[in-house]
Order: sequence, then structure tokens, then C-alpha cells
Amino acid sequence: MHTKIINGKDIALRIRQGLKEEINKLKVKPILAVILIGHDGPSEIYVRNKQRAAQEVGIESKLYTFDEDVTQQEVENLITSLNQDSSVNGILLQLPVPAKLNAQVLLEKIDSKKDVDGFHPLNIGYLQNGDKKAVIAATPKGVLRLLKETGVALKGLNALVIGRSIIVGKPMAMLLLNEDCTVTIAHSATKNLQNLSKNADIIVSACGCAKMIKKEWLKDGAIIIDVGICRDESGKLCGDVDFEDVLGTASHVTPVPNGVGPMTIAMLLENTLEAYLKQRS
Ligand code: GUN
Repeated sequence: MHTKIINGKDIALRIRQGLKEEINKLKVKPILAVILIGHDGPSEIYVRNKQRAAQEVGIESKLYTFDEDVTQQEVENLITSLNQDSSVNGILLQLPVPAKLNAQVLLEKIDSKKDVDGFHPLNIGYLQNGDKKAVIAATPKGVLRLLKETGVALKGLNALVIGRSIIVGKPMAMLLLNEDCTVTIAHSATKNLQNLSKNADIIVSACGCAKMIKKEWLKDGAIIIDVGICRDESGKLCGDVDFEDVLGTASHVTPVPNGVGPMTIAMLLENTLEAYLKQRS
């Protein structure tokens, strides 16, 4: 079988170009507030990439940084003032936050209409209900967009989601369920993962296990979306999927890098523009 490689980078660029054209027409530019706590290396890189991408499409991004020793109250006070500032359209709290802070309380504090990450309980509830008002978390939203780009009808397919985080696994499962897939969620305590994967028409993997998924794990013609960001034995960036190995067995696969990653950023920008438009309508 010829495996199609889904080029997330090109699709994301096309989406960003569309957003840029829309934002160009606006008199007042959208503003995204980004909160970064501590000095987690990957988080600092993600935040820098998000800010650069925002600027490129014409979204102004404001960065608020705190050291690890910040108190819960100080972060909550910032969120309250950003909620009240009508010039701020989106608020993003970069995760993870230091363990002594209560991330759930902070996420719940963000005005759900400014919650461009879709992590507020109200948005999670809307997603669960299949309500269009939901703001959908950027990574699963991007994955669904990639699946739709394949042109394959999703209805009735067996989808396996590996990972149950609030950032990827849980919202991903709900989105696929809303597309009429039959969804299985696997996680670190799941037994016989290979049996589940053999039966899957779609696999979305977000477990961070370098090159775990091999061709023997797959049903012929499965669509494989790799959300993992890992390092292989030689320190090279790779995903949860052994990319070279599944070529010829999968019908579609996303590479790492240039697969899901660029889509996450594009969807964050789209969520920010959508928040802006809703606030102004
Ligand atoms: N950390 C890892 N992914 C994400 C994301 O999509 N949003 C936020 N806020 N933090 C993250």
C-alpha cells in the first residue's frame, strides 16, 4: 500500500494565511495574553513559537511571566485583571504550572469566552454535549482538521486514542465520538494495547513513547496521527510512531516534526480570532 504522508506544516501555513487575510481587514487587532510560570524548557520554546506565529498573522500577544515562587493568589489576580480588560480577547495559561499551584482552579478562573485553549470546564462541557459554543483545545482540533483533510469518511470507524490528558486525549476522544467514530481511550494502565491498535481504523497517539507503534500493531490501511514529541536513541526528534516502519501499512501518517505541531499553533490562532469575533458581535 502507498502511505500518504499528511503534511501538517503546509496545511497549517494555508490556515495561517487565511487568518492573516481576515485579521488584516480588522480595524482593532485581536490581543492574546500568554501566562508563563517558571522556566520549563519546552514551555518556553512553545510560548515563543506561539507568540511569533500570533504576530505573523496580526494578533498582538502580551507575555506575562512569573518565577516558580509566585503564589496562587498572584496568578489569580492577574487572570482577574485580564478577564476585566476588554482589550484582551484571549488568555492562555501555559501548562504545566509548578506543582504547588492548583492548575484546575487557575484554568477555571479564566473567563470561558477568553479561554482560547478550551480547558475551562464550561468549554469541556459544551464539547461533551456537541454544542457549537465549545472552544476546542488546539491540538485535538488540529488533529481532527488533519483527519478531515484525508477525505476519508469518519462515521463508524474504530478510533483508538492513546493518552487521556485534558490537553489531548480526553477532548480528542470526545471530538471523534461527535464524528460518530467508535472510540477507545488507552492509557498507561491499559492492557493489550496491541490488540486494540490492530482493530483501529484511526490511531491518535499522544503518550510520548518514542517509536512505540510499529507496523505489526496496525490494521492494514489505518490512519495514524502522531501527537508524540520524543527523542530516539540518537537524540533525534521523533514521535510515538516508528514512521519509517509503518510506511506501506498505514494509509496515512503524520510525520514528527511537521505533522500535528504546526496545526496546534494554527488552531490556537484560529481560536483567538473566533474569541475576538464573538466578543465583538
Ligand atoms: N502545554 C502543552 N500543550 C499545551 C497547550 O496546548 N496549551 C497550553 N496552555 N499548555 C500546553
